Amino acid sequence: MPSGPTVDLHPISLRSARSVLGGGVLLPGRIRWHPEYPMLETMMGLSVLIQAHRASGWDESRVPCWWMYQLVVAGESGSRLVVGDVGFHSPPSAAGVGTPAADPVVEIGYDVVPSMRGRGIATAACVGIVERAWRAGAAAVRADTDSDNARSRRVLAKVGFLPQPDGSYLLERPA
Ligand SMILES: CC(C)(COP(=O)(O)OP(=O)(O)OC[C@H]1O[C@@H](n2cnc3c(N)ncnc32)[C@H](O)[C@@H]1OP(=O)(O)O)[C@@H](O)C(=O)NCCC(=O)NCCS
Repeated sequence: MPSGPTVDLHPISLRSARSVLGGGVLLPGRIRWHPEYPMLETMMGLSVLIQAHRASGWDESRVPCWWMYQLVVAGESGSRLVVGDVGFHSPPSAAGVGTPAADPVVEIGYDVVPSMRGRGIATAACVGIVERAWRAGAAAVRADTDSDNARSRRVLAKVGFLPQPDGSYLLERPA
C-alpha cells in the first residue's frame, strides 16, 4: 500500500446535491476550499452521479452509498482545506470487465486542483475510495483514463489496478 499524505474523504452534502439538482452550484460547507476548487470536473462528476442515482430510484433525502467525496488535507495554521474530489460514477453495474455478471463493478473518478498535484493526494484518495467500494460490497473497481494521462495511469498502477484489453483499469476485490 503506498504511503503518503493524510487525505480525508468527506461526502458532498445533500444541500449541495439539492443545489446541483436544481441547476445551481456546489455550496460551501464548514471546511475551507482551495482557491482553485471547485473545478469543472467537480460539477460535471456530481451532475452525472446525481442523474445516475435518480435513474435508479434514489431516495433524495439520503446521501447514497455510491457517492462523491471532497478531498480534505491539512492547510496552514491547523486549518483544513478541500483540494479535490473522488467518487463513483454511478451505482454498481453487473456488466463489469473480466468479472462474473453477478458481481457488482463500480467505476471511479478523481481530480486534484492543479497546484496541489504531485504530492500523493490522488493516490491516497484512490486507496480511500477503493476501501469504501469493498466495504459496500463491490467485486471490482474500474477506472477509465485517457491513454495520454500518464499521471492518472501512474496513480492507478500504484494502487494496484491492472490495465485491461479495452484500455480501462481494473482492481478486483482481494480474496
Ligand atoms: C490525475 C490526477 C488526479 C493526479 O493527482 P496527483 O495528486 O498529482 O497524483 P499523485 O501525486 O498521487 O500521483 C501522481 C503520480 O504521477 C507521476 N507523474 C507526474 N507527472 C507524470 C508524467 N508526466 N508521466 C508519468 N508520471 C507522472 C508522479 O510522479 C506520481 O507518481 P510517483 O508517486 O510514483 O512519483 C491529477 O493530475 C488531476 O486531477 N488531473 C485532472 C483530472 C484527471 O485526469 N483525473 C483522472 C481521470 S479518472
